[in-house]
Formats: sequence, structure tokens, C-alpha cells
Amino acid sequence: MIDFYLNGRRQQCADVSPDTSVLELLRLRLGQTGTKEGCASGDCGACTVAIGEPDGRGNLSYHSANACIMPAHQLKGRHLVTVEGLARGDALHPAQAAMVDCHASQCGFCTPGIVMSLFTLHQGQRQHPAPLTQQRLESALGGNLCRCTGYRPIRDAALCMADYPDTHPLWADDPDLAGNVEALDRDATTIPARSSPGKAVGHFDSPTDIATLRELRKERPGSRLVAGATDLWLETTQQLKPLEDLIDVRQVAELTTIDETPAGFWIGAAVTFSRLEPLFAEHYPAFAHLMHRFASAQIRNRATLGGNVANASPIGDTPPVLLALDARLQLDGPGGPREIAIADFFLDYRKTALKEGEFLRALFLPRLDNDRQLKVWKLSKRREDDISAVLGAFAWRLEDGKMRDVHLAFGGMAAIPKRAAQAEAALEGQAPGQPAFTTALAALYREFQPLSDVRGSREYRLLAAGNLLERLRLCLDTDHEPHAEVCLDAYAH
Ligand SMILES: Cc1cc2nc3c(=O)[nH]c(=O)nc-3n(C[C@H](O)[C@H](O)[C@H](O)COP(=O)(O)OP(=O)(O)OC[C@H]3O[C@@H](n4cnc5c(N)ncnc54)[C@H](O)[C@@H]3O)c2cc1C
Ligand code: FES
Ligand code: FES
Repeated sequence: MIDFYLNGRRQQCADVSPDTSVLELLRLRLGQTGTKEGCASGDCGACTVAIGEPDGRGNLSYHSANACIMPAHQLKGRHLVTVEGLARGDALHPAQAAMVDCHASQCGFCTPGIVMSLFTLHQGQRQHPAPLTQQRLESALGGNLCRCTGYRPIRDAALCMADYPDTHPLWADDPDLAGNVEALDRDATTIPARSSPGKAVGHFDSPTDIATLRELRKERPGSRLVAGATDLWLETTQQLKPLEDLIDVRQVAELTTIDETPAGFWIGAAVTFSRLEPLFAEHYPAFAHLMHRFASAQIRNRATLGGNVANASPIGDTPPVLLALDARLQLDGPGGPREIAIADFFLDYRKTALKEGEFLRALFLPRLDNDRQLKVWKLSKRREDDISAVLGAFAWRLEDGKMRDVHLAFGGMAAIPKRAAQAEAALEGQAPGQPAFTTALAALYREFQPLSDVRGSREYRLLAAGNLLERLRLCLDTDHEPHAEVCLDAYAH
């Protein structure tokens, strides 16, 4: 049974198979067809909806999400808002009124998704008013594609929404809504979300503590773990594979905490990127900068750091950064917890050190102290919402003018995210000048044999990785003037 609220009304949907998406539930079961399907892979944003979650202070906090790749069972204890739920009778919500007045819609297919992204932006502005900078606009709309209107009028609509009367949807009048949703959320912590036997096939369990998660993993070794589903769900929408036995890690208390220690931060595997943004901004600015280039707001609101690492894609964005930082991983499972270095986690293409029944519990990020520096540069065909062709993450410190503890990690250059051991050795203990970097570059070309694919040829990848190393030299080489020239590029940090 999925017990949730849709546009202010309680919904109880029984016999929903585990691999049903929110979009399918809306369109096929509930007859709510305002939310559109474009790509069914999280790329176009046509299916954008808003998810209201209890914020622990008696309110609901809304974020955008792609309904096409969100498991319907994850709606339990949430308030789902769709484009049908924004107007108050004939009075349009400011997001809708501004889109109409700015002529920001033509064929209209992308419009419901864009309106929902503007709705969450508007909600955010209402709770925490702040200037609508270019960066915030890009972040709010970067996950929505429009093929006929052009973005200028859509941007205008975003900028002028605040000038409209603040028409609230009717459901916003209900003083009990947040409490009612929260009560369902509490229920969700004690009742496993399991499909009725004999009706729908399979399981969708949402354990809330690590002991239950361990037990479920032991009981059902063939089950799949799901967190934000932003990778996993593509197996059903793109490859049409069934996902019949799922265990959701997003409610497991131990996987959702962030613990600060003098040495660094233990981050629960199910913490989303959106939640990590403030921590990255304060302690790892280069990592925070990467987040602007990581997928879209819809994806970052749901995708987890643990999912990115466990997915073990050679072009995942965070593994090279974690390799450069010497992160540690806490794995857990039937045999209890164990800790390993991230460098020992990736074994071969999509193969990890996780044993049967194990899961990723938390990740440890050491602090950047003792003048340790971090640079992260991502190259992709498109700036917004695109996967890397090559990503370089570089960490080092300077001691008496020499580079120490040099870590050069790359994504997109091998079957696994990998450090360039020979290039690192060429820089270790050297002054950051042309001679050391020339040797490092030659070593880099020797130690990687990247593949050619749609994102880049072997030659492009080698050249690009070498150029990232050269960019690092230009940032560090005191003979090079002016330093700023290297960093002026919009993508650099
Ligand atoms: C449109 C789009 C754009 C994207 N852009 C980027 C991008 O720019 N950069 C990038 O790196 N990625 C990108 N991705 C991929 C994806 O968003 C990330 O890899 C994300 O971090 C996956 O996290 P998740 O929580 O959604 O994982 P899920 O999809 O839920 O799970 C991914 C895999 O990890 C396993 N898993 C999840 N949690 C655990 C755990 N705790 N222990 C063990 N196994 C676990 C699952 O079983 C599954 O095999 C994009 C995806 C889409 C759809
Ligand atoms: S349909 Fe394209 S993002 Fe969902
Ligand atoms: S209005 Fe047609 S795709 Fe945007």
C-alpha cells in the first residue's frame, strides 16, 4: 500500500508493483495526465513534479524530482504536487501566470515540467528569499529542456514570478496537511511497504534501521538496493528489465546522518547531493563547484553519494574526487561493518569490493587541512545535466615549494575511476614547474589506454586528460603570469 497525499488529498494505492514509477502511477492509475513523459530517463524534465517532505519543524519542504525515474513506493509519507494542483480555481499560481504572460510556452509539452520547477523555486524563495542570480536560475531550470520556445521567455517568467499576487494552491489552506503527511511518514517507519501477496509480484521494503536492512539482505540475497533510483531506474525505463525485489535504503537512519569529526566527515551513504551542497560549499569548494555540473536539480535532490559510488561507473563524477581526497568507506552486511580505502573499492568494470549481502553504509571525507588543495575539472559535451567524458580531480600540498601527497585521479580514462600512479610519482617532491609536469604528462599518456565511445574518442580523452594536467601546472607554476588567465574560464574553479 502506498499511502501519500496528492495535491492535498490522501491517496492509498494498493497492489502497485515495485517497479512502478511515480509517472506511471499518476498517468495510468490515477488519471492525472498533466505530468508528461518525454525521455523516461531523467534528462528532459517534462515529468517534473514537486515532492513535499516533513522538515522536522512541522512544515513540508518541497523539492523537484523526475517522476519518470522515481519509484512510486517512495511516495509513502510524502505530499506529491503536480501541475494539476497549483491553480486556485481560476486563479493561476504565479509560476503559471508568469509563463503565460511571458509567452514562455509554444507546443506546451515541456511546460508542466517547467512550471513545476518554477513552483519549487517559488516555494524556496518564499521560505528563504534570496536574489535570483544567474547561477540559481541555471540550477532551477537546468534540468528542463524546451525544444520550441527558447529559454529567454522562460527565464523572464522565472524572474518576474515574484511580482504576481502570491496565489496559494487550495491545499495550502489546510493547516493539518503537514501534520497528516508527517503521520503517514511515521507509519512508514513501522510498516514495510510490501506489495500484497498474490496481487502484485515482488517486494519493495523500506527498512528504517540498519539491523533490519542487514536481515533483509540476508533473507533475500537476490534483492536490489535502491536509493535515489537515478541510475537503477533506467534499467527498467531504458532496458525494460523488471525490478521485482527492491530494498530502499533512504529511510535507514544510520545511512542518512552526517557526522563531523576533527579529522573529517562521515557521510551516510543515503545522503542526497542537495543535502551535501552546504557542507561541500564550506569545506570542499571544488567539490561544491562540481555539483553545479552534476546532473540537474531534480536529480541532485534525489541522487545519493552512496549510489554514485556503489554504481561504480567509470564516468561517475564523485569517485575521482573521493580518490583524490583519500576517502574511506564503511561497508556493512551480514558479517557486520568493515572499513576500506576507496582505492580498494573499485575492482574492475562495475565490480566492487562489496561481498554478497553487503551494502555501503557511510563514506569518510578527510578535511582539507595543512594547506592541502583540491581541484576538480569536469569535461562533458553539454554544461548542464550531462555525464563526464573525462573528469580530473587533483589534490596536493606545497611544502617548501615542492609538491607533496600528490593525488591525480581520473574518471573516463579506464574501466574504473583510477589514480595516475606514475604521473603522481613524477610530481611527488618536485617543484610545480614545466620539467616535472612534462615528465608527468609522458607518464600519464603511458599509463592510460581509454576507450572510444559516444562521449569521446580514445585520442580525445588522452589529450583532454593531459590538458587538465597542464591546467593544473598553469595554476601552480609561479613562472606563469598572470595566474588568473587559467581560471577565467566559466567551467574552471
Ligand atoms: C539525467 C541524469 C543525469 C545524471 N548526471 C550525472 C552526472 O552528471 N554525474 C554522475 O556522476 N552521475 C550522473 N547521473 C547518474 C546518477 O544520478 C548518480 O550516479 C547518482 O549518484 C546515483 O545515486 P542514486 O541514489 O540515485 O542511486 P540508485 O540509482 O538508487 O542506485 C545506483 C546503484 O547503487 C546501488 N546502491 C545504492 N545505494 C547503495 C548502498 N547504500 N550500498 C550498496 N549499493 C547501493 C544500487 O543497487 C544501484 O546498483 C545522472 C543520472 C541521470 C538520470
Ligand atoms: S520524462 Fe524526461 S525527465 Fe522524465
Ligand atoms: S514549448 Fe514545446 S518543447 Fe517547450
